[in-house]
Amino acid sequence: MRALVTGGAGFIGSTLVDRLLAEGHEVDVVDDLSSGSMANLADARANPDHRFNFHRLDIRDGALVELIERRKPEVVFHLAAQIDVRVSVSDPVHDAMINVIGSLHVLEGARRAGARKVVFASSGGTIYGAVADEDLPAKESHPQQPLSPYGITKKVVGDYLFAYRELHQLEFTALALANVYGPRQDPHGEAGVVAIFAGRLLRDEPCTIFGDGAQTRDYVFVDDVVDAFVRAAHKGDGLIINIGTGIETSVNELYATMARVAQVDRPAVSAEARPGELARSSLDASRAEMQLGWTPWTDLAAGSAAVLEFFRQRDAG
Ligand SMILES: NC(=O)c1ccc[n+]([C@@H]2O[C@H](COP(=O)([O-])OP(=O)(O)OC[C@H]3O[C@@H](n4cnc5c(N)ncnc54)[C@H](O)[C@@H]3O)[C@@H](O)[C@H]2O)c1
Repeated sequence: MRALVTGGAGFIGSTLVDRLLAEGHEVDVVDDLSSGSMANLADARANPDHRFNFHRLDIRDGALVELIERRKPEVVFHLAAQIDVRVSVSDPVHDAMINVIGSLHVLEGARRAGARKVVFASSGGTIYGAVADEDLPAKESHPQQPLSPYGITKKVVGDYLFAYRELHQLEFTALALANVYGPRQDPHGEAGVVAIFAGRLLRDEPCTIFGDGAQTRDYVFVDDVVDAFVRAAHKGDGLIINIGTGIETSVNELYATMARVAQVDRPAVSAEARPGELARSSLDASRAEMQLGWTPWTDLAAGSAAVLEFFRQRDAG
């Protein structure tokens, strides 16, 4: 398969690129390196079969449409985005220029190239908005009422994907990701707390827990997420599909697990709760099991060990 990955120099994107190359696919990456890095693509660039091409380009640039048309991918994995919810609140125009207009360039390119499918990285933690306790873990049928400009852009791109399928027969799957963590992750992403804790635990610095630490998230490991992307290239047509574990982990539990794995026994430091923080979040992934044959297999202790090891090696090197 010939694949094009936008955001392929980022955390999830570069892990996807490595997996696609390992399976023998030909991969083009488009990334402006605003938060991603070439270091994430070191393995891909060393690929002996030369099945890898990197294009440094901002997806807001209309030249992307011609680039995709020229490269003629069969499947476009669209992951490039402004990912910081707080930035989307302080500068929603900037956020929408990347996440909406940039996404439209991707869709136009895919349409003109005659691509078979677009697999989109949506956000299960934000598109549903506030989910009532009795509706957790959230299903895809939950109303989409995002509470941040970032969540709105993810919802809107889902709407465009649906319309492009009807209008232009461009197939899609939107993967509504939970809080993705793993090696190469960025502290600004939706599971940023894992990277922050890892860095501080390794430097033997105290970790801060805001509020009572009972707030929960659904932490899903990056390799498991990438597996869902690969499956979605051929399955789950026309659907939004949650990718999460369905398990709610509190910040207190996350810290306890990571501290145990890092063999640190100092307690976390408490700080005042952050206003507007969602109290609970988790995603029901039964549709992913049914439609993609996907279930997550990495538990939090194993995943945390991989993150700690990655940061340890990076700091040493
Ligand atoms: N990490 C999570 O927990 C999570 C959860 C839900 C959804 N997502 C989505 O998954 C995707 C990947 O996220 P990630 O965590 O790997 O983040 P990341 O920041 O590591 O990756 C995003 C990549 O997109 C690139 N990029 C940003 N703006 C660009 C632009 N204008 N033009 C070209 N490239 C640009 C960045 O350089 C980076 O390499 C994003 O769409 C994000 O919204 C992530």
